[in-house]
Amino acid sequence: MSIPAESLPIGVASERAPNGRGWSSTSAFVLAAAGSAVGLGNVWKFPYIAGEYGGGAFVLVYLVCVVVIGLPILMAEIALGRRGGHSPIHAFGRLSAQEGHSKHWRMIGWMGLVGTLLLLSFYSVVAGWSLSYLWYALSGQLFAIAADAVSPAEHMSNLFDGLLADPIELILGHSLIMALTIAVVGKGVRGGLERAVRGMVPGLLILLVGLVGYAAVATDQFAAAATFLFQPDFSALTGHAVLVALGHAFFSLSVGMTAMMAYGSYLDQKASVAGASVAIAGVDTVVALLAGLAIFPIVFAHGLAPGSGPGLLFVTLPIAFSEVSGGAIVAALFFLFLAMAALTSTISVLEPITEYLEQRFHRSRAMATGMAGTMIWALGLGSVFSFNLTKEVQWFGLNFFDLLDFVTSHVLLPLGGLLIALYAGRILSKEALTSELNMGDGYLFKTWRILLRYVCPPSVGIILIYNLL
Ligand code: PHE
Repeated sequence: MSIPAESLPIGVASERAPNGRGWSSTSAFVLAAAGSAVGLGNVWKFPYIAGEYGGGAFVLVYLVCVVVIGLPILMAEIALGRRGGHSPIHAFGRLSAQEGHSKHWRMIGWMGLVGTLLLLSFYSVVAGWSLSYLWYALSGQLFAIAADAVSPAEHMSNLFDGLLADPIELILGHSLIMALTIAVVGKGVRGGLERAVRGMVPGLLILLVGLVGYAAVATDQFAAAATFLFQPDFSALTGHAVLVALGHAFFSLSVGMTAMMAYGSYLDQKASVAGASVAIAGVDTVVALLAGLAIFPIVFAHGLAPGSGPGLLFVTLPIAFSEVSGGAIVAALFFLFLAMAALTSTISVLEPITEYLEQRFHRSRAMATGMAGTMIWALGLGSVFSFNLTKEVQWFGLNFFDLLDFVTSHVLLPLGGLLIALYAGRILSKEALTSELNMGDGYLFKTWRILLRYVCPPSVGIILIYNLL
């Protein structure tokens, strides 16, 4: 039996909190949402795109994109989630029915749902690489320079190529990540998500600070790395770089995919959406910058290039680790940090679909999580095989993994963000917004609404068109 979206009562999110279904506190929500935002995007992508697009100037543009576009949409997404009080699809249906708008706005929820399925399926494969590397570091394989390799550099590329060529090993990493994700999400909001993030988010922050400290003490390149990240050289900045920065702000803040909406649906009515959003965006940005300060000094100290693409973490960095004292331990801690950062994101991506299945089909939490997780796991095999068995199979010149990455990061995320900005900024009544945001209608509220109505849609529209062309 399904519940028509319109008949679900308003304000359920706040009523859930006391009976143990919502977050136990606002700080638990902030921790979970910050955990969602902090992920492979911060550690794997941000440093190498910053490296590729010239460092400081890119970082500056990125910060502007986060504040002016990412943050307003993040606030909108959390507010819509809390007001809807149910799974994103139901939430759009209810909010629209309440104000007499078309029920077709539920499409935003559907799009988000498809996006989360696709995103998690390949994200989990990359997250699995960090488990493989954690194992390589612990077992000594990482630094056991093979007889056939002439240099650490060659050994590291062989190791990475070997991992990608081995479907069984990739499946193992992907399966472990999915199993952990299902185990956490299946236990519910308080018993699963909240317990996991309470341990993992502080843990990963401590590890990161430790790694930055290590990079500062063990290398003499910390100042060079800081200059690289913080001294803007605008000559290196291209129009393309600006669009990359904006696209990455979306990915990094986890907006446009309804993950934040689902987390918001469990948020207590008294919590400040604006305050929580600023905290989430702040933690996410600081972690991205700290990741750069942990990685670049080590990379520079070994004369390696900063912008070496996705291989930065799995080839360049291990080469550098292999040459420092205590490198094996530092490498193990680094890949543990990466795996934890990834897991606090994967659980947030599985949440919206779990919430939907739970409410739509009246399934138990465990059953809904298992169903969604298994489907995503199976889809992930397509990404696994695109590195080896089906490497040659391409669509529009992209293999399956790259195609999913393109469709989610370059199309669905900005499109979702655009529609959320339009819905919150132009469809939902101002009264609904003011009552939900609880921040009055002073200049902060006005600025937010202006950004949402006039700045976000054209800027996001431009990246969308640019990406599609
Ligand atoms: N923000 C996550 C990261 O930086 C990725 C993500 C995107 C998670 C969208 C949830 C939704 O890795």
